[in-house]
Amino acid sequence: MERKTIFMNFIRIFCIVVFIFQFYLLTKDYLQFNVRKETINYIDDAIEMPEVHIAIPYYYALDLNFVLNNKSSFDQACGAFFNKDNCDVLETDGGKFYKWLGNILTLSDIEKYSYPTETFIKKIVWSESSEDPLKTGKCKIIRKASSTTQVLIIRCLDSHGLPLKVSRTKAIIFNSSVLFNFTLNTTIVLLKLIYPGKALVDDSSLYLVCTSAKGKLTWCGIRFTKHTEISLPAPYKKMCRNYDRRQTFEDCLNTHSIEQTGMLFPETTVPLDRYSESSQMRFNSPLYGNSSSLMLKIYRQCQSVVTQQMCNMIRYSYKMATSSQDIAKDQQEMRLSFIATSEPDSLTESKPDFPLSDYLILSGSLFSTWFGISIMGQLLAASHLLCIPYRKSTDTVDFKTKIRSNSISIRPKGKKSRNNLTITRISPIA
Ligand SMILES: *[C@@H]1O[C@H](CO)[C@@H](O)[C@H](O)[C@H]1NC(C)=O
Ligand SMILES: *[C@@H]1O[C@H](CO)[C@@H](O)[C@H](O)[C@H]1NC(C)=O
Ligand SMILES: *[C@@H]1O[C@H](CO)[C@@H](O)[C@H](O)[C@H]1NC(C)=O
Ligand SMILES: *[C@@H]1O[C@H](CO)[C@@H](O)[C@H](O)[C@H]1NC(C)=O
Ligand SMILES: *[C@@H]1O[C@H](CO)[C@@H](O)[C@H](O)[C@H]1NC(C)=O
Ligand SMILES: *[C@@H]1O[C@H](CO)[C@@H](O)[C@H](O)[C@H]1NC(C)=O
Repeated sequence: MERKTIFMNFIRIFCIVVFIFQFYLLTKDYLQFNVRKETINYIDDAIEMPEVHIAIPYYYALDLNFVLNNKSSFDQACGAFFNKDNCDVLETDGGKFYKWLGNILTLSDIEKYSYPTETFIKKIVWSESSEDPLKTGKCKIIRKASSTTQVLIIRCLDSHGLPLKVSRTKAIIFNSSVLFNFTLNTTIVLLKLIYPGKALVDDSSLYLVCTSAKGKLTWCGIRFTKHTEISLPAPYKKMCRNYDRRQTFEDCLNTHSIEQTGMLFPETTVPLDRYSESSQMRFNSPLYGNSSSLMLKIYRQCQSVVTQQMCNMIRYSYKMATSSQDIAKDQQEMRLSFIATSEPDSLTESKPDFPLSDYLILSGSLFSTWFGISIMGQLLAASHLLCIPYRKSTDTVDFKTKIRSNSISIRPKGKKSRNNLTITRISPIA
């Protein structure tokens, strides 16, 4: 008896230990919150119009007459900036001065001396209707400034703040695949496409360059595809956050930079009227004395604010083809066309690798493996119990029961068969 109890306790402990170990492994696996990615490629008929960022170097974006009209004060600024005694604005090599113009001018000067947007873009032609979306207010051009370029942003939003959609089929059938196009009155532009509110942080390398020259009509055709990546929120791996990562980053850079140097951080892009309360606001530059280590510090500080990925990240991949033809010698024209491509867009979704439902099912079955009772066994046992009174009553009846056979003979018509099929129904007689 004693030995039997010891043996039973040993079995109990063994089962519990193995169960706990397996349960621990399962739970550990679940708590890793691993994700797997699933990508779908698709071709949608409704194409969302991306935000087009057109960056024009200040040399082409500003009415430079103001420099000539005020040459002496710019010579002075040039001298201070490049730390030279006799700086002649017109003679600085390779237009170096103009490249840094954005650092020398204040935001209000940039606003004052830049050409109005109509100088660059008069109208937009799109495949949706014959109306100009700039006239109807469907698209807007927003002006921003960076330290080297003026940025024009074409933004087309519907009433919900989402990008306007154009029909691929319409563009293909009626407009030789051109979704929208416009003429840009300038010599050189840097282009990029972003989804409103979803710009990447390190996307400065993604510019396309389109140039035009005197006596040429340059055509730049841009095809783009959209790539959406949806991540899972915490606690899943690659935790994401719903925010405008690029904007948060730039705001952080500028807030710290203004606090510590009184100037904007270089490489950021700000709306021209953003800092209108301080008329002297301008972009900082490593050329201003010893601020570069400070810039580095601020940059690192702000990078740590935007380590989290966006939950819903959209980027575009794009390709540009250019061609040009001769026109009158004194003219030049640049046309930008955005063309529907037959390449599919992609949607990448993160899915939990070990979802909660799987965890519940597996832990449930693990528990019942070690301690559980089989439902079938229980039902059988129950049926056994139920059958006891019935069997007792049939036992007594048994010898009185006559079996009556109802035979149905099936014989193929016409042909005499040797084998008769007999279906016998046995029924107890009441
Ligand atoms: C010339 O520069 C001075 C000082 O920067 C400024 O007050 C003045 O408005 C400028 N004149 C023009 C024509 O830009
Ligand atoms: C094109 O831009 C130049 C300045 O770069 C401007 O003088 C000219 O008027 C513009 N042309 C048109 C047609 O707007
Ligand atoms: C597309 O075709 C329509 C009708 O022919 C026209 O009104 C529209 O301007 C065209 N759009 C483009 C981008 O060529
Ligand atoms: C837009 O594209 C259409 C068709 O390719 C062309 O006829 C039209 O001149 C273009 N418009 C502009 C403003 O580039
Ligand atoms: C350079 O650094 C020194 C010491 O930190 C500081 O006093 C000076 O103002 C700085 N100069 C500039 C141009 O920022
Ligand atoms: C089949 O049934 C018929 C009629 O009931 C009978 O005459 C015949 O002998 C049976 N044949 C065989 C092979 O049992």
